[in-house]
Amino acid sequence: MSEQVTAIVLAAGAGTRMRSRLPKVLHEIGGRPLVGHALHAVRELGVARTVAVIGHGRELVAEVVSGIDADVVQVVQEEQLGTGHAVKIALDALDEAPDGTVLVTYGDVPLLTADTLTALLDDHRQAGRAVTILSAEPEDPTGYGRIIRDDSGNVLAIREHRDASDDERAVREINSGVLAVAADFLRAAVDALRTDNDQGELYLTDIVAHAVGDGLPVGAHVLEDVWQTEGVNDRVQLATLGRVLNDRLVEHWMRQGVTVVDPATTWIDSGVTLAPDVTILPGTQLLGATTVAEGATIGPDTTLRNVEVGEGASVVRTHGSDAVIAANATVGPFSYLRPGTVLGEGGKIGAFVETKNTTIGAGAKVPHLSYMGDAEIGEGANVGAGSITANYDGVDKHRTTIGRHARTGSGNVFVAPVQIADGAYTAAGTTVRSDVASGALAVGEGGQRMIDGWVEARRPGTSSAEAARQARENRE
Ligand code: UD1
Ligand code: CA
Repeated sequence: MSEQVTAIVLAAGAGTRMRSRLPKVLHEIGGRPLVGHALHAVRELGVARTVAVIGHGRELVAEVVSGIDADVVQVVQEEQLGTGHAVKIALDALDEAPDGTVLVTYGDVPLLTADTLTALLDDHRQAGRAVTILSAEPEDPTGYGRIIRDDSGNVLAIREHRDASDDERAVREINSGVLAVAADFLRAAVDALRTDNDQGELYLTDIVAHAVGDGLPVGAHVLEDVWQTEGVNDRVQLATLGRVLNDRLVEHWMRQGVTVVDPATTWIDSGVTLAPDVTILPGTQLLGATTVAEGATIGPDTTLRNVEVGEGASVVRTHGSDAVIAANATVGPFSYLRPGTVLGEGGKIGAFVETKNTTIGAGAKVPHLSYMGDAEIGEGANVGAGSITANYDGVDKHRTTIGRHARTGSGNVFVAPVQIADGAYTAAGTTVRSDVASGALAVGEGGQRMIDGWVEARRPGTSSAEAARQARENRE
């Protein structure tokens, strides 16, 4: 960037129409709060400084903003006295007056991209203007400020909808709210703003007529892609923009070489990274910071949040979060991977298996109907069907260790803390209460007792008793 750019993100508004306890700019689309989209766009642009103007829900908003970018200067606007007032206090908050260009954007306009802002700034500089408005021509311009031009098409002013005449309201070109302004002009112009309008606010938009009056060049950069200028005011718009963002992300990944069988039922968050030749089957949500490596197949009907999936892995009908699935591993169907699950290369977490805080080594398998919590399972081990780690004694959690190439029988209960050493076996139905030595076979105690005639004696009149009687008569 040849010349300094200071970004001001306006995010103090109440967002009343959201009807929410949560400040509007903290509502999310694409797994990111609205204000996060605005901050990511200006950061990607490479601005020198960013000032965020916050107000409603300031404690919550401040925390989220510093979590996204600790370098953002945050300034509180106690009362929302207008966009001009917000910019004024943003400028006041800076130690030194900005030079170069000031870019004003909103915290509730989430689809605006860094590319669009770059084009706006390039246009602004090349034309040598004092103010460049990012404008658009939506189907319905009601409510927006209109771009007022003279007969030759020169921009004269921005008129707010409520202050506009009928003729002015007929104009379709609107102010998106995003402006590029020469820093030295902006300082003088916001200091000169007045409240003589319908709302009695300081309108930032009045700086356009001010510049024209001073004979300074102003203009508009018209954006074809109207969606990028759309703001969120209520939950209907939140869902609409969320859908459009998702469509764009899904298309982006398809163009990067990802097969998406059903874009309509595939949801991909902004923070997700996918490699070429990943296949996503219908009904899949990839959320948070999930990454998927080349050749992996995800879905159908799978939700992964902050999961790392290795090359060639397959994840079918699975719900997972904060987990790692290594290359060529297989998961599902109907698996539940809770935080701290690490599945090694070529390993398997099979049908109806829940895992938590558990490492499963390379090539190791937990194929059927099991719960593995706080466990370490060595490479090449196999856990029998229907096995449970009893990891919780009612007060504390304890670990279970299963050694390399161990074979545990079906229906085992591992009463933690317990260790099954390398290469050991356990018999079906064993409750493993004490450690098993390497190479040993552990067999559960408790033989099987039979009480002849119990059903006919104790459950007379039942279908079981009747079947037992028939079998006895056939024997006799
Ligand atoms: C504003 C513009 C209008 C434009 C429209 C685009 C002005 C006077 N009008 O109108 O020309 O078409 O946006 O959506 O600028 N904010 C603050 N502090 C304030 C006031 C607003 O931080 O004191 C923030 C809001 O949180 C919001 C943004 O600025 O993110 C715009 O405010 P809003 O009240 O929605 O402006 P509009 O009346 O829609
Ligand atoms: Ca608005």
